[in-house]
Amino acid sequence: MTRKHFALFGQPVGQSLSPRIHSWFARESGIALDYTSRETSPADFAQCLEAFAHSGGAGANVTQPLKGLAFEQAATWGAASQRAGVVNTLTWRNGAWHGDNTDGAGLVHDLTGRFRLDLRGRRTLVLGAGGAAAGVLPALLDAGIESVTLVNRTPQRAEQLVERHDDPARVHARYWADLANLGAFDFIVDATSAGHSGSALDLPFAISGARTLAVSLSYGAAASRFLGWARAAGCSEIHDGLGMLVEQAAESFAIWHGVRPDTGDLYLELRSGKSEAGPLSTD
Ligand code: ATR
Repeated sequence: MTRKHFALFGQPVGQSLSPRIHSWFARESGIALDYTSRETSPADFAQCLEAFAHSGGAGANVTQPLKGLAFEQAATWGAASQRAGVVNTLTWRNGAWHGDNTDGAGLVHDLTGRFRLDLRGRRTLVLGAGGAAAGVLPALLDAGIESVTLVNRTPQRAEQLVERHDDPARVHARYWADLANLGAFDFIVDATSAGHSGSALDLPFAISGARTLAVSLSYGAAASRFLGWARAAGCSEIHDGLGMLVEQAAESFAIWHGVRPDTGDLYLELRSGKSEAGPLSTD
């Protein structure tokens, strides 16, 4: 069987579980592949991706801070990434990169499938307006959330995302400094990368209510500060991004190999810390 080559591009990628997840799916599905992490700066990304294609690369995942650049590197796009304007999954197809985004489907799958949560009608706050926030927005809207308020450290990025969606009744931007005046949300998503640098977000307890679902799109140590805040703020249900990571990987795997692997056992293994990945300091 010919072994196909896949890679994860991003900065940082050293701690990523994606190589282990894709290797596990490959073993379960009887598919021969290798999947490596490639630490890549935004300045080097285009050249590295081109070299990867020339060396026989069949597909790539892209993580922070490269998802917007990955959109520009694609010649064609799937519907989700077209709406999002960011790409986390690239497939080498007919001599060019095809871009998809599986982050949103992964998040919704995790919350509604694994945790049986109903997202419909939820007044939602998304913190951040980078690649992760842009990637999950279309799927959250499709899942029936009532509205989404975007708040970002750099307000212009939140406004750009609002413009892209052109849905003023449901998608709007507010200033971080005004958070305390926006009332309680039913669903708060931390889509910032602040946890990766160990920074704490300045969040008022007033945005949390008795039925607030709080979700970090990060996992491991990077999620712990936001999850700690959510517990202190009294959020009723709190999740990290480990399940989303596994589900978005399964969606990417399905795009590349035509089969969606079962994720249940792998999720439990990663959650319990029994895999090679070691324990995760999450919830
Ligand atoms: P990703 O693909 O993970 O979204 P990204 O595109 O680099 O990565 O975006 C990172 C997001 O986290 C941005 O919304 C960023 O805010 P800025 O647009 O102002 O840079 C946000 N972020 C990172 N560190 C942060 C911090 N310490 N406080 C608040 N927001 C932060």
